[in-house]
Amino acid sequence: MSLSGKKILIAISGGIAAYKIHFLIRDFVKKGAEVQVIMTPDAENFVTKLSISTLSKKPVYTDFYSDNGTWNSHVEMALWADVMVVAPCTANTLSKMVHGMCDNLVIATYMSAKCPVFIAPAMDLDMYVHPSTKKNLDLAESFGHMIVPAENGELASGLIGQGRMAEPETIAQKVEDFFDSNIKKTLEGKTVLITAGPTYEAIDPVRFIGNHSSGKMGFSLAEEASRRGAKVILISGPSSQKINDQNVELHKVTSAQEMLSKVFEFYDKIDIGIASAAVADYAPKEVAKEKIKKNDESLTIELIKNPDILRTMGEKKTHQFLVGFALETQNEEENAKGKLEKKNLDMIVLNSLRDEGAGFKNDTNKIKIFTKTEKKEFNLKSKDDVAKDILDFVESQLLK
Ligand code: C5P
Repeated sequence: MSLSGKKILIAISGGIAAYKIHFLIRDFVKKGAEVQVIMTPDAENFVTKLSISTLSKKPVYTDFYSDNGTWNSHVEMALWADVMVVAPCTANTLSKMVHGMCDNLVIATYMSAKCPVFIAPAMDLDMYVHPSTKKNLDLAESFGHMIVPAENGELASGLIGQGRMAEPETIAQKVEDFFDSNIKKTLEGKTVLITAGPTYEAIDPVRFIGNHSSGKMGFSLAEEASRRGAKVILISGPSSQKINDQNVELHKVTSAQEMLSKVFEFYDKIDIGIASAAVADYAPKEVAKEKIKKNDESLTIELIKNPDILRTMGEKKTHQFLVGFALETQNEEENAKGKLEKKNLDMIVLNSLRDEGAGFKNDTNKIKIFTKTEKKEFNLKSKDDVAKDILDFVESQLLK
């Protein structure tokens, strides 16, 4: 998850755009962030603490004291946050922020914060273009804050122009870009090819032989490699995973044969090859031209061996660093090490179906990594975190 472990403090002020913040919170939480929300007293006229806290999974504060008499420490919340996002930021809250008018919890928290601050202004047309707003936004920028400009469109008043708060996806993207820009670009200049997902081997025009691979591991690896600055070529069999990253070139294929051809379109130019696809070992010898009718009591389909894509990569290896996966149910380590040798790999990632939460369809995985001389064991983690471990290990090997 791209925001895994990040602590985001959202401050909502009293504008109609506050309703959009539900989507922003949900997005942040989905991406693994911890979200704490505070609101100005007026924001409560637009959204409820209940709806917000249900999504953020934490109590929402509007005042220094809660009804039960507990102190809501603005200092603690401010120092806890990795970033603060003020959205929507009304003309009033913006003005208080830049002039130090500290008369509510939001401003006290803001003034105690040392973290980067994002401001998503939202106001009506004439208020947005008013010289005082412009000046206050300039001042906010001069403090080092990041402004997510208001967008053009129809405003709550019916007027049309700039003033609508930026869409939640735009705000989320800015925050993610900020965290990404702080990541060391350890794979800058490298091209990484990743195979992912299952392959489908056609039986007739409507049926196929496939497997339960979701493609998640490969897609997480692609995102993480890209975050580290690599150019990524992701060759995926049928999978419902999506990727929204300009540095990742996604090629969709169906069968093992197609995956093999696609891999070798790029093979000479890549530095690292990671084969996480669950390629079907066999395919029907012949594909029926018409849908096979269920006339007989039994049906025999002759299968022939598919090409072993990774083994072919291993045979043709010149400079590429090759990583394979082994999904085993018995004699796990022995089988994995055997594949490392047989396929001429530099590293193999073993996941055992005997470990709960590991393997194919889950969002989590538990792996062991082997090279010819090393072995490293990892705990059960999200596939995004497993992708980080795998790439950290690859990088440590490249430095040798
Ligand atoms: O031999 P086995 O299928 O267990 O090997 C698994 C590894 O080989 C995985 O990295 C998988 O992506 C790759 N593989 C392949 N082409 C095949 C079979 C497996 O690239 N036909």
